[in-house]
Amino acid sequence: MLKKCLFPVAGYGTRFLPATKAMPKEMLPVVNKPLVQYGVEEALAAGLDEICFVTGRGKRAIHDHFDISYELEHQIAGTDKESYLVGIREIIQRGRFASTRQLEMKGLGHAILTGELLIGNQPFGVVLADDLCFNEGPGVMEQLVAIYRRTGNTVIAIQEVAEEDVSKFGIVAGEEVEPGLYRVTDMVEKPQPDQAPSNLAIIGRYVLSPFIFELLRHTPPGKNGEIQLTDALLALARTSKVLAYKFQGRRFDCGSVGGFVEATNHVYQNVYQRGGR
Ligand code: G1P
Repeated sequence: MLKKCLFPVAGYGTRFLPATKAMPKEMLPVVNKPLVQYGVEEALAAGLDEICFVTGRGKRAIHDHFDISYELEHQIAGTDKESYLVGIREIIQRGRFASTRQLEMKGLGHAILTGELLIGNQPFGVVLADDLCFNEGPGVMEQLVAIYRRTGNTVIAIQEVAEEDVSKFGIVAGEEVEPGLYRVTDMVEKPQPDQAPSNLAIIGRYVLSPFIFELLRHTPPGKNGEIQLTDALLALARTSKVLAYKFQGRRFDCGSVGGFVEATNHVYQNVYQRGGR
């Protein structure tokens, strides 16, 4: 049943202007691959091979990236450059891709609700490509999928952050039911440090029950006047179990220039220079 993964990719990427003026921020390369490709690879590795994009205007390059480029294929066929395309060809073969457009930017919750058309009535993963995650073992989405399969509960990825950083994240509070696994009791979107229920921050990986759509429809605008996924998840946590998992691995905030540069150095040293593509 769990086959789909939703990628909200409609954002403007203003922090990267002017680079993102005519190019989607998700197509910015982390060394030799666009940011969104890492997220798609993580979803495919977790067995989620139906990839659903919630896009906006100016995001055509994302669709083109996950499509065959006949002209390019023809040009480099039989040359040693063909090896550069092996990875993306595999992704295109393994995945199925669909998209819909978010007409107005009304927040992450609104973007997810826009994706209902593609997801329908089944559980689904969500990847926020800005959060670039690496792990030596199973990827973060694979870790969440394993918990979902075992428990049947909605599950979100969390990590501890410094107190001064809590206002950048959705923050959860919960009771630890297993080492590293919490049953969520409270959730606040981007609280001030003195109002944060903990320092456990939501990272952009979720496995959600389709019931979230119904809750999102009734979620009023919250932080920054936007419809917040965090608020709908708190409503869900009040009626059914929502789990939060301290994932294994490392996360880079590619929504910020500093995090993007850190991720780039990490990939260059640990993946690219070791021959990874
Ligand atoms: C979103 C979520 C937030 C979460 C964050 C993770 O915020 O609303 O709860 O902690 O992603 O990256 P954004 O960074 O899109 O503003």
